Amino acid sequence: MAETTTNAAQAKLTVIIIGCGRVAEKHLKAISKLDNLELKAVVDVNPESAKRLLGSVKGFANTKVYSDYKAAIDEVKPSIVSVTVPSGLHFQIAKYAMEHGSNLLLEKPMTMSVSEAREIFELSQKTGLKIAMGHIYRYLPIVGLVREDIAEGKYGKVTHGTIYVRWGHNEAYYNSAAWRGTWKSDGGALMNQTIHAIDLLVWLMGSEPEMAEAMIARRIRNIEAEDLGMAVLRLENGALAQIEGTTATIPSKHMAEFSVFCENGQLSMGLDSGKPHLNIFTIRPDGKIKKLNGYYIRKQFKTGGLFSYKCALNPHLGIYKDLSEAIIENKAPIADAYAGFSSVDTLLGIYKSAKEGHPVALPLKDDFTTLDMTGFFD
Ligand SMILES: NC(=O)c1ccc[n+]([C@@H]2O[C@H](COP(=O)([O-])OP(=O)(O)OC[C@H]3O[C@@H](n4cnc5c(N)ncnc54)[C@H](O)[C@@H]3O)[C@@H](O)[C@H]2O)c1
Repeated sequence: MAETTTNAAQAKLTVIIIGCGRVAEKHLKAISKLDNLELKAVVDVNPESAKRLLGSVKGFANTKVYSDYKAAIDEVKPSIVSVTVPSGLHFQIAKYAMEHGSNLLLEKPMTMSVSEAREIFELSQKTGLKIAMGHIYRYLPIVGLVREDIAEGKYGKVTHGTIYVRWGHNEAYYNSAAWRGTWKSDGGALMNQTIHAIDLLVWLMGSEPEMAEAMIARRIRNIEAEDLGMAVLRLENGALAQIEGTTATIPSKHMAEFSVFCENGQLSMGLDSGKPHLNIFTIRPDGKIKKLNGYYIRKQFKTGGLFSYKCALNPHLGIYKDLSEAIIENKAPIADAYAGFSSVDTLLGIYKSAKEGHPVALPLKDDFTTLDMTGFFD
């Protein structure tokens, strides 16, 4: 069973981080700010990476370092295993951790194949262990409030939604680790950079994808997978979603936005070179258009206080808090195991459609993996 240590004041949930690269620093910063979490160890096959990570946030210099994740899980028996290794390794580590009684903070994408994602989802159902996915956009301020209102029908019927993720990455980024941009361990701009935006859009629109049609291209980056992808989804409620995801844009000018359009309103949120923007409008019964930005900002402050705005700077803070509450109160995290499975299924449906040149029905009936895309651009 997973270990929970106690100090004088409260029970703490023990955590280990497996994989000490770029994203692990966001995890460590989040853990350092939450009193009910206790980091017991970090794991990396490269001890220098572990050292660098522990030196990046004050107070962790003496944390135990392992190079073998199985030894760390077996000895520490942590309540939470944070999986921050290259995506192609998520499945084996997530499975081992759950089979040994740990809850997961699992980075996106959950796995690289539909069958593996289903297995991890079913394991969480069977064991009752919680999985919070690294789907950071669900944890941004205001998003949850807007979703509740859409779900309650305050904006009427959802017609369609759009996202663009123009998250430029240059060759230096792709060369920084051998797994980046490969079909086996990463996928391209859609699977890596766009998956959490797709997850968010579908979640906001309140229905599951039933059809995907897509094209992908490799325009300028020297990688195996796509640096540009465009797709259309049809959801079970009949609404359409349009997706653009790319890393073939200027790295210092990151842009991302999602919009949802409804019978009685529309909303857009996004980032442009680090600057956030928000536009939420509704049509009142008298036909007048009302901007609701102020309403949501005040409501967020009342319900989530400053903490929710801190999550805008590091959404992993929100994920860890949510996961802790989910474990203690035995409830589902906001970005749960189903979200992990469903987004992988949608992404692989998009790849399958691009490969086969026709729309594909979702959820996929047969297994499909990113490896099935090998040689696509040759
Ligand atoms: N949610 C987000 O916002 C977000 C952001 C970036 C990355 N990610 C995801 O996080 C994961 C890691 O991405 P990154 O950019 O931090 O990668 P990275 O290459 O910077 O770091 C990965 C680390 O894992 C280590 N590693 C490799 N194999 C290992 C093993 N068997 N055991 C232990 N450690 C091992 C590597 O040595 C490296 O230090 C990916 O799945 C990526 O998609 C999520």
